[in-house]
Amino acid sequence: MTDFRSDTVTQPTPAMKQAMFDAPLGDDVFGDDPTVNRLQQLAAGMLGFEAGLYAASGTQTNLIALLAHCQRGEEAIVGQQWHTYRWEAGGMAVLGSIQPQPLEHQPDGTIALRDIEAAIKPDDPHFARTKLVVVENTTGGKVLPMQYMHDVAALAKRHNLHAHIDGARLFNAAVAIAQKENRDPVECARELAQGFDSVSLCLSKGLGAPVGSVLVGSADFIKQARRVRKMVGGGMRQAGIIAAAGAYALEHHVHRLADDHANAKALEQGLREVTAKHAKLGGKVVVHPAQTNILFIDVDGEVADGFLQHLAAQGVKVTAGLYRVDERAMKRIRWVTHLDVDANDVQRALDVVQGY
Ligand SMILES: Cc1ncc(COP(=O)(O)O)c(C=O)c1O
Repeated sequence: MTDFRSDTVTQPTPAMKQAMFDAPLGDDVFGDDPTVNRLQQLAAGMLGFEAGLYAASGTQTNLIALLAHCQRGEEAIVGQQWHTYRWEAGGMAVLGSIQPQPLEHQPDGTIALRDIEAAIKPDDPHFARTKLVVVENTTGGKVLPMQYMHDVAALAKRHNLHAHIDGARLFNAAVAIAQKENRDPVECARELAQGFDSVSLCLSKGLGAPVGSVLVGSADFIKQARRVRKMVGGGMRQAGIIAAAGAYALEHHVHRLADDHANAKALEQGLREVTAKHAKLGGKVVVHPAQTNILFIDVDGEVADGFLQHLAAQGVKVTAGLYRVDERAMKRIRWVTHLDVDANDVQRALDVVQGY
């Protein structure tokens, strides 16, 4: 069985489990857990911020950030597909009375600077007060470029707005940029975050920890975020037992994300070759380029269900959703590579596709 559904499905490695076993613990609500404190400082330092705050999930660090940046009746500019807008049960509106202002995406995954600028409301009692711009990097596996990130941060500053990165997979973006420019990934991550007020960073995606996310920002911001975390029931006690896995992941699993990207690329190239000549799939599959560890293919509606059943029967797990291209019903299938997928798994998946 190979699980390509998400990079969240990984098992902690033996060394990571040992780090959890050995972790010194304390009550983190009192600020006494040395392992949580170490993780928070480590994440903040890697991304160039003063302080960090550990929480249970990326949804929670994003929610905490939104509630810490915005008051009731204020507005956050987001992308239509951003996780903060589409995939977090409307938390900012439900729990914070924050108005989301969603914007359409460009094909490269960005939201256009001119659209962000046009969406900022004048200071007029008719309007919600625009307070925050959110960007997500990577988004759908796409890397938002360094210059774009700098431009968003500068735009926010110009308009007196706060700026937050949903960096659930920021290190995937950093590793992809670092590889292209022959640079250090941590330095690239720090540069991506430069000029932003906060970043939420997931430990339980490509980095391979079983649970957790860290929010980083200024010491004042994190002080406010700690209050919000308590309010949303996110204060955990001897949390070092899980934070240890996150610290281990930050120390050992950042550079290896390049392996996941290489496996996704091999899967992309293999799927392109196998499906092009395939009796049932030929001409019915579009394979999109994988920039990081997430690959999408669009499969013609006529053959998609049979193909998906075949993958499931052969133990190749993927996720799929309905998608339309040129008025044709298509299924968009997502393949995600991670710590528990290696080059042999990729080859086996290609053999399964070939065998359809
Ligand atoms: C871009 C992005 N942000 C945030 C999250 C939320 O993370 P979690 O599942 O830990 O709540 C996800 C989860 O898939 C994500 O893809």
